[in-house]
Order: sequence, then C-alpha cells, then structure tokens
Amino acid sequence: MNKRDDTLQWFDKARFGLFVHFGLYSMLGRGEWVMNRENICPDEYRKLADKFRPDKFDADFICSLAAGAGMKYIVFTTMHHDGFRLYDTSLSDFCSVKTSAKRDFTAEVIAAARKHDLKIGLYHSLNNWFDKPDAVDALEDKGKYNTFIDNTFNCIRELLTKYSPVDILWYDGGWPFNSEGWQGIKMNELALSIQPQIIFNGRNGLPGDFGTPESHMTAPSPWRRWEACMTMNDSWGYNKGDSNWKSVKTMIKMLATAASGRGNLLLNIGPAGDGSIPEESVKRLTRVGEWMKINSEAIFTDEIFDYDMYTRGKGRSEWTNHGPFTASGNNLYLLGIKWMGSEYTLAGLESKVKKVSILGSQQEFKFTLQDNVLKVSGLPEEPPDRECTVLKMECESPPMIYRTGGMRVPRAPHPHYDPWPSDIKK
Ligand code: GLC
Repeated sequence: MNKRDDTLQWFDKARFGLFVHFGLYSMLGRGEWVMNRENICPDEYRKLADKFRPDKFDADFICSLAAGAGMKYIVFTTMHHDGFRLYDTSLSDFCSVKTSAKRDFTAEVIAAARKHDLKIGLYHSLNNWFDKPDAVDALEDKGKYNTFIDNTFNCIRELLTKYSPVDILWYDGGWPFNSEGWQGIKMNELALSIQPQIIFNGRNGLPGDFGTPESHMTAPSPWRRWEACMTMNDSWGYNKGDSNWKSVKTMIKMLATAASGRGNLLLNIGPAGDGSIPEESVKRLTRVGEWMKINSEAIFTDEIFDYDMYTRGKGRSEWTNHGPFTASGNNLYLLGIKWMGSEYTLAGLESKVKKVSILGSQQEFKFTLQDNVLKVSGLPEEPPDRECTVLKMECESPPMIYRTGGMRVPRAPHPHYDPWPSDIKK
C-alpha cells in the first residue's frame, strides 16, 4: 500500500457522509444558485449579509444527526459560488464573522464534527460571482486572470492554514477553466504542503483522490474511488418549494449501492435561512439511523464482493428481484428492498452455506442448497423492516455467485455474463 492509499483508508471505509449546503442563499429559499439564476448584482446580494442571523444553526445538532444516522464524515460549504464565506477571513469583508451573524460557522462545524468523531470536509467553490476580478474577467483578460488565480490560491492557503487539520478539501465551481487554467497541479501541491493528510476531489479539473458522481449512484468505470453526492429532495441549498423528498427506502438503496460498488454516499441537507434543518430531512436521517443500528454490518463491508451486478447503472441495478448484495468475509448479505415473502431462492451460489438469518434477530431459517441453488423457507411473509430487511447468509468461504444467460453453466467456453469481472481495487 502506498502512502496515499494509507491516507485514504478512512475514506475507503467511511461509506456515508453528510453534505451541508448553507449560505446567504438559504434565506431566499430558492436554491444555492439564486444569485446567478435571478441575476442579483453583488451590491444587492451583499445586503442579505446584514440580515443573516441564523440563530437556529446548531452545528452540534447537525453533527449528532449525522453520527446518529451512521455517517462517518461531514462536508460543509465554507463558501459557495455566491462568494459568501462562512468562516473568518482577512481577505474579504463578505463573511459571516464580519457581518450581522458574527459567527464562524466553519469553526463551529469543525469543533462539533470532532466531538462526534466525524471526519470533516471543507467544500470551497473556486469560481465565485462576488469577488472581482471574477472568472469571466479572468477569461477575458490575462492580467485579471493572474490576479484571479492569485486570489483563489490565497483563499485556499488561508482556509487550510486557519482550519487545520481537516480531512477533505472539496473543490467545486470549476467553470470556466480546466485543470490547466486552474493550475490544478500547483493547487493540489499547495493544499498538501499545508496539510499533507488532506484528500481532495477532482473538481479542479484533475482526477483528485476520488470521483464525485452528482445526483446518480454510478461508480466510475473503470472503477476508482468515488463518492456520490445526492440530494434528499431535488435541491442542494434550501428550496422552500421543493417537497419532492426521497423515501427512506430510496436512501437505504443508495447506501447499499455505494457499499456494493465500494463507494461513499454523501447525502445532503440544506438548512433554512434561520439555520434550522427541514423537518423532512431530520425525520429521514433519524429513520436511516435506526435502520443502520441494526443493519450497518451489511453496509460497512470490509471486503469487496467480487460480484458486480449492481454497481454500474445502465438498469442493471434492477437485475435482482429483491435488492443489492454486499459481502464481508464469508458473509453474504441481501439487502431486501423488495421483500420476497416466506421463501427465497438464490441460484448460482458457489459457496456452502452454514446459516441463514435476518439482521436484528436471533432466529435461524431452514434452507437447502443443491446444485448451487439455495432455497430458504420459513421467512416472515411481511418484511420485519418495511424499508429494507437484510438477509444474512453465512458461508464456509467467501461467497461467489455465477449465473449465465442460459439455464445452466455451459461446459464449453462462453462469454461471461453475471458477474462481470469486477475491477474494484482491493
Ligand atoms: C454543483 C453545483 C452546486 C452544488 C454541487 C454539489 O457543482 O454548482 O450548486 O453545490 O454541485 O455537488
């Protein structure tokens, strides 16, 4: 294992984190792009800072919610594209410490994260619509470009010097430059020179330590470290009109998909302008936490199940009738999103089975295993957990499943069918 892999070990196991989109835009309740979408000029937008007193913003509560949900880390928007800093800076007056809130929300979140044993990521937008010269100026004028890049690097230098140690630098807002334009290599080197343990995503144009599929749960192909960021409704920043909340079942399925593809799920909340967390988010995180208390061993799987039917999208996630599989050591877990009723059949299992049970219960179930077909009987007709009941199959060796497109495995060379050979790196 090289040194970087060593640094990334915690990320490989983390599986589940909380994204927090919070800023002046939260007061308007029309998402975090409102300044751009409504073309609000900086002088107008600045006025929001005089009214920003999010008394209900409680970093301790947010982190306890995350930890209670079984999350291992939190990523906080220190500055979004609107340029408003939720931290103390000597580089601008447009920050929460020097305006009416008079609070350093980044420091609050870091302290609370540490208290709740969560790793901490600082989201930082490279491009912002407030500072001058902005990215548009930089694109048009070489002199302004140099100033713009200097300012961007100064922001990163200051942020990482003031708030240390932290675990992730989460770049965003890469428009309009590629890695060359952002001087990405120098940028990453700068970050590492201040905090050698820091890891970063690839949104400054370079690959970074991990990919960040946004709003879909697809592992990069070929596989590399990944973290899918997902909203709970359809918005990142608080959007008062968005009631399109995902179900708890959907969230658990997202988690299972992350686990089976050896990735992480970064699930978002968008606190309102007063700092309060939408009740719908609190309810869901609490419920996911209850589920995780019983079932997290199927999520924090420490081995890669060399079986790849679920990880690659393209409709293959619906390939099984009941839900994704994960595995750990000799254990195979079926995350029963669509419960099968009292009997369960799994064909193609190439490992001997010792015991079948349901997580959260001591009961063992009768089974037969013949010609690689496992048949379990006596299961509850209704799923004990209506969101997702996990069936655990303890095997005598690391579980393997193989099925072909025919009714039996041909005794002749044949194209591989399921699983596709996994390219997940151990
Ligand atoms: C995008 C959006 C942004 C959001 C982010 C989350 O880059 O610009 O508003 O913060 O993705 O992944």
